[in-house]
Amino acid sequence: FADKALQGVKLMITAGPTREAIDPVRYISNHSSGKMGYAIAEQAAKMGAQVTLISGPVSLTCPQGVDRINATSATEMHEAVMGRIGQQDIFIGCAAVADYRPEIVADAKIKKNNDQMVVTMVKNPDILADVAALSDAPFTVGFAAETHDVEKYARGKLEKKKLNMIAANDVSDPSIGFNSDQNALTLYWTNGSLLLPATSKSNLASQLLMQVNQAYRKQ
Ligand code: C5P
Repeated sequence: FADKALQGVKLMITAGPTREAIDPVRYISNHSSGKMGYAIAEQAAKMGAQVTLISGPVSLTCPQGVDRINATSATEMHEAVMGRIGQQDIFIGCAAVADYRPEIVADAKIKKNNDQMVVTMVKNPDILADVAALSDAPFTVGFAAETHDVEKYARGKLEKKKLNMIAANDVSDPSIGFNSDQNALTLYWTNGSLLLPATSKSNLASQLLMQVNQAYRKQ
C-alpha cells in the first residue's frame, strides 16, 4: 500500500464468534470464521492504522503489525472493548457476538439423566451499541448478517444502534459470507448506500476501509 490513508488512525475491530459456556465442557456458539474481521484488521494495518483486534476463538493467525486481544464469551469481549475504547478513532464491530448466554453455567459436567434439557438464556450486552452510545464515541461501523429484507434490517440497526455506517451481507447465499473466502457487502449510511460486489475478503476489506476513511474524515 503506497497510500497510507489511515496513517496514525487508531482502529479497533472485533472479529470471530463468541462461546457461551453451558458447563465446563460445553458451549453455544456460531459459524463465524473470523476471516472478514481479520482481513479488515490486516488491510487497516497496511493502510497505516494502529489496529487493535479483539478476537473471539478462531483458527487464524494474527495479521502482522496488529495488536490482538483474545476474548471467549460476549461478556469478556465487551469488557475487552470497553476497557480500551477511550483511545480509538474508528470502531468496527465484525464479531458474531452471541445474542444470549446460558443464565447459569453448571460447575460440573451436566449428566444425561433426563430425556429433555432446558437451558434458560439471558441477553448479552450489545458491544456495538454500547460503543456507539459513548459521549465521545469513535466513528462506529457495524455488520448485519441477514437472510432476507437485507436493506430494511440493516437500516433498522444503523438507526437503532446509532451507527455511522453498516455493512450488510446476505448470509442466505452460501458462496459468500461465513467460512467462505469471498464476500459481498452493501454499505448503508444515513444518506446513502454503496454495493461492493463479490470479491475476495481482503479486496473487500480495503474497499470497505476506503469508504470508512472517507466518511470518517467528512464527519
Ligand atoms: O443486532 P445484530 O446482532 O444483528 O447486530 C450485528 C452487529 O452488532 C455486528 O456488528 C455485531 O458485531 C454487533 N453486535 C455486538 N454485540 C452483540 C450483538 C451484536 O457488538 N451482543
